Amino acid sequence: MRVAVIGAGKMGLPLACQFASRGAEVRACDLRQDLVDAINRGHCPIEEPGVEAMLSAAVAAGRLRATADASTAIAASEVVVVIVPAILTAQREADLSALLAVSEQVAGSLQRGAMVCYETTVPVGTTRNRIRPLLEAKGLVAGRDFDLVYSPERIKSGTVLQRISETPKVVGGFTAAAAERAADFYHRYLGAPVLNLGTLEAAELVKLAAMVYRDVNIALANELARYGEVVGTDLGPILDAANTDGETYLLRPGIGVGGHCTPVYPYFLIHDAARTGTRVTLVERARGINDGQSEHMIRRLEQALGGLRGRRVLLLGLAFRPGVREDLCSPAFLVRDELVRRGADVRLHDSLYSDADLTARGFQPGQLSGEPAAEVLVLVTGHPEYANLDFQALARRGTRAVVDGRCLWAAEQVRAAGLIYIGVGRPDDGPSQRGS
Ligand SMILES: NC(=O)c1ccc[n+]([C@@H]2O[C@H](COP(=O)([O-])OP(=O)(O)OC[C@H]3O[C@@H](n4cnc5c(N)ncnc54)[C@H](O)[C@@H]3O)[C@@H](O)[C@H]2O)c1
Repeated sequence: MRVAVIGAGKMGLPLACQFASRGAEVRACDLRQDLVDAINRGHCPIEEPGVEAMLSAAVAAGRLRATADASTAIAASEVVVVIVPAILTAQREADLSALLAVSEQVAGSLQRGAMVCYETTVPVGTTRNRIRPLLEAKGLVAGRDFDLVYSPERIKSGTVLQRISETPKVVGGFTAAAAERAADFYHRYLGAPVLNLGTLEAAELVKLAAMVYRDVNIALANELARYGEVVGTDLGPILDAANTDGETYLLRPGIGVGGHCTPVYPYFLIHDAARTGTRVTLVERARGINDGQSEHMIRRLEQALGGLRGRRVLLLGLAFRPGVREDLCSPAFLVRDELVRRGADVRLHDSLYSDADLTARGFQPGQLSGEPAAEVLVLVTGHPEYANLDFQALARRGTRAVVDGRCLWAAEQVRAAGLIYIGVGRPDDGPSQRGS
């Protein structure tokens, strides 16, 4: 089976390695020559546990090659898998530019009889109404001359190899035969159970539904957290207890939701619902609640300190997930803006990033060990290195307050050091019953 994977990034490359490990002859195609060269040398250019070994074995066995010449790879392939990014424009519309550019390229080289599978998350209807016309522009017709499939990538970077063959692979086709063909392909070359949903649109909506569920669930946790903060209860143990009934699965509140998935894909649904004359008000509201968490937490800090003008604040963490060097839509940006708006002097520490990386993203680099210590620490990312800070020492060096955006610290321990503690879902002045 000759397979071209277009987009050899964090998801495309592990996918290419998995196909190769199960016997396919794979061409990983990417615009970035540095990725292509690294792969062909047997080096893994992405940080994903376990992929380096798979990649070097596949390259050594001659089953995986990378190329920047996607057209040649497409022309030589029976299956073309597209997994390039789609995020948001400045107007929060789906930015399909990479996907549409690749589709034009696929159209120019596609073999009669091939199958084209799109895995990038897209608004419902994109594969049929935006992509198919481009693929057919050179005369081949979907369903007659080639098979068109949508199959969302539902696993996430950081845990790819753990999940790649366990998470059911959802497929839908332009025709029933295309969906069946995709089911056979993924079953054999991914080694995962397959859920054939029939149509392109059904498969597209599966991914959006799951992303919206996550965002709405977090928004609910954030609303409960705000309530808990006022009535004087610590929400953490309450969520743990609620989740023991076998029917509840509440996620954790926090200072914000980041990444290229959870805060992005709800807009794919919101815009398409508006276009179709319907509204997804709960989804819209959840986005507002989650993006409003940074403002909410910084307002609590401002009230506790009686103002933030001129205060030296150190943000801890830029990455949107602990231990993963990814910062698209990180809450750190919103938190910084809230602080700057109130006149604070803001710096940021994240040891996954160099000072130059931070500067390029609009942050002033800061150090935890810097003298004098920042007056305020705001925890944005629960990196393990922040779990055991010495609050007594920080207090001696001039820190006055901390904002715990991930409930990583024990409030009593922080307060015992003489610091003001402000935690998501935790009351400002200990577990009293102010609201009762
Ligand atoms: N990263 C995740 O955790 C994750 C999880 C689930 C789904 N996804 C889906 O996968 C998509 C890709 O995510 P990713 O994390 O792999 O992105 P990525 O940025 O790591 O990789 C995408 C790659 O595509 C390449 N590319 C862009 N345009 C191209 C073109 N015209 N031709 C060839 N290559 C091109 C880029 O150079 C890059 O290397 C996302 O948009 C999302 O829909 C990602």
